[in-house]
Amino acid sequence: MSTDPTTTRGPGRARQESIYRDGVFGRVPAVPTDFATLEARAHQASTTEAWAYVAGGAGEGRTMRNNRAAFDRWAIVPRMAHGNTTRDLSLDLLGSHLPAPVLLAPVGAGALMADDSDLKIARGAAANGVPYVFSNQGCNPMEACAAEMGDVPRWVQLYWSTDEGLVDSMIARAEGLGAGALVVTLDTTLLGWRPMDLNLGSLPFSRGLGIAQYTSDPRFMEVVRERVASATKQSTEVTLGAIKTLLAMTRNHPGAFLDNLRSPEPRGAVETFLDIYSNPGLSWDHLATLRERTKLPVVLKGILHPDDAKRAFDSGVDAIVVSNHGGRQVDNAIASLDALVTIREAVGDQPTVLLDSGIRTGADVFTALALGANAVLLGRPYMYGLAVAGERGVAEVVANVIAELDLTMALSGTADLASITRDLLIPNPSA
Ligand SMILES: Cc1cc2nc3c(=O)[nH]c(=O)nc-3n(C[C@H](O)[C@H](O)[C@H](O)COP(=O)(O)O)c2cc1C
Repeated sequence: MSTDPTTTRGPGRARQESIYRDGVFGRVPAVPTDFATLEARAHQASTTEAWAYVAGGAGEGRTMRNNRAAFDRWAIVPRMAHGNTTRDLSLDLLGSHLPAPVLLAPVGAGALMADDSDLKIARGAAANGVPYVFSNQGCNPMEACAAEMGDVPRWVQLYWSTDEGLVDSMIARAEGLGAGALVVTLDTTLLGWRPMDLNLGSLPFSRGLGIAQYTSDPRFMEVVRERVASATKQSTEVTLGAIKTLLAMTRNHPGAFLDNLRSPEPRGAVETFLDIYSNPGLSWDHLATLRERTKLPVVLKGILHPDDAKRAFDSGVDAIVVSNHGGRQVDNAIASLDALVTIREAVGDQPTVLLDSGIRTGADVFTALALGANAVLLGRPYMYGLAVAGERGVAEVVANVIAELDLTMALSGTADLASITRDLLIPNPSA
């Protein structure tokens, strides 16, 4: 039996070949191809504050460890001599055909890692044809990010503001830029207890970083102007830190630096943001209004309990993301992968269930799919790629994860995503 080598290459071999070919000329990849080295390089490239925000988690960091330990508790049992020479990694997801079951998670305050972070991430995602979920805490307006992505799907993530007019305005903007879905994140009605940031007294938003979706929003700026107009003059303690913060707010606000320096708006925007960005009273009653408010597919992100998953689908949403926000909200929360197992059992085969929190490699994607995820979202790995090598770093991290998924499929005997089933896993006897 002869096999045509050009059809058997797939993204895995293509990526290996490109890396090894470059190696012949003495060139190495822009980012390390294993997560541990990638993380270490990103750490070196980051400021203390940036690292605390991006790598840090809630409390003692147990949820982050739980996320990884859950993957280690499963082992893949590859099948041999299956004769498959090609793999199909593609899937249909909420009306879009995607080349691989990977999306880029919404990650806020990316400018901690690189200037124009979200534009670079958008280009890195588009280079791989995978969707990017724009963060509500982004550092570039969502319209500018969309303009970088051509026809590649972009989704928009929303935190439910206490200002319902702002919720409507953000939804209208998502519709206006042709979003493939509206992703409402449920798990951040308040910020979790994050010691790495708390120990530094550092919150990017209070420096005006990560509020670009707000300062580019007409409704938000209306609220800011009302606030500034009605403000009574307050005396502020003048310290070096306060001056630095004021300068950062001024720099991060849209418009000319000198105009901003004279204007009360940059500070008003930060204060308004901190007041209204998320609604601690968020309930299923709020979520029930979504169907009348938008025609976009609706995705609820941050679900961990099977009853919440059932309630979400009963309320007519199109998909959920099983997620513990990368361990940033509740310390010692259930691992996302463990939650996926009980949620898939509870909701059955049909509903679209995505997963994030702890995905680091292509083998992890394989494991998540085998346990019932339709697709996964990558978070910190691509942020680390951004920190190490900008847009190219993002593109390479995504390409590497997809390449390893393809090779894992090839070496395990799965020709398409539907063949990645639970019977290819066992509880890891070594864990
Ligand atoms: C620095 C950082 C910022 C994040 N910002 C947001 C955000 O703005 N909106 C959101 O829904 N999730 C946000 N998340 C959560 C991610 O979407 C995702 O759930 C998480 O990164 C997955 O965990 P992992 O990166 O450890 O795999 C953020 C995560 C990180 C690490």
